[in-house]
Amino acid sequence: MDLTLKIWRQKNKNDKGAMKSYPIKNVSPDSSFLEMMDLLNNELIEKGEDPVAFDHDCREGICGSCSLYINGEAHGPDRLVTTCQLHMRKFKDGETIHIEPWRANAFPVIKDLVVDRSSFDRVMNAGGFVSVNTSGNTQDANATPIAKDDADKAFDAATCIGCGACVASCKNASAMLFVSAKVSQLSLLPQGQVEAKRRALHMVEQMDHEGFGNCTNTGACEVECPKGISLENIARMNREYLSASITSKS
Ligand code: SF4
Ligand code: FES
Repeated sequence: MDLTLKIWRQKNKNDKGAMKSYPIKNVSPDSSFLEMMDLLNNELIEKGEDPVAFDHDCREGICGSCSLYINGEAHGPDRLVTTCQLHMRKFKDGETIHIEPWRANAFPVIKDLVVDRSSFDRVMNAGGFVSVNTSGNTQDANATPIAKDDADKAFDAATCIGCGACVASCKNASAMLFVSAKVSQLSLLPQGQVEAKRRALHMVEQMDHEGFGNCTNTGACEVECPKGISLENIARMNREYLSASITSKS
């Protein structure tokens, strides 16, 4: 496949940045999108040019770091896959592909296609954990029966990989799908009840503090989420937050 890549190049956070065009030839339709980017970078390095900076780690849909906006869609045109799982056969020979970083005030660009997503870490630090004692007299997991439906929903929420596609695809740059998945995976289980109120309050407060927008029920986040996280989680988080606001002081 011969392609034209239009890629966002930005030297650093303060640089204005611009789209730059790169022709690329002989791309295998069976290569992954990131392998195609590797090919381009090898060519740029051979020419003595600065390679395109992009984030990646596991390359198997687990770590959530490969965050690219491809032809106007977070993680590209395929459904329920991350950029690293996207294959070039999803594109046509001769096509022009636009590649941009996530765009949100809370995700400032570090360089080219790499954004700073430490705002997500700070939201997690605000309450995305349980403080149950796990040593000394550890209970058998089966000693606390959990309804199958609740366990399934908790596991589904726990598949969120923190990629940020929900934020990037939302017109308000809202992080509600991410935060609600993290709140839900704990609030649906007995182990998560101890800090449930504090968690909902503190994580939502931190989310607002980081500058993410609010949810207006557009649903783009659910469509673009590579893990199929459901909007149902947002409704659950809203209920938790409301109830915690009324009944809690901290
Ligand atoms: S909710 Fe989906 S899109 Fe958002 S961070 Fe989690 S996995 Fe990524
Ligand atoms: S590189 Fe880890 S999810 Fe894509």
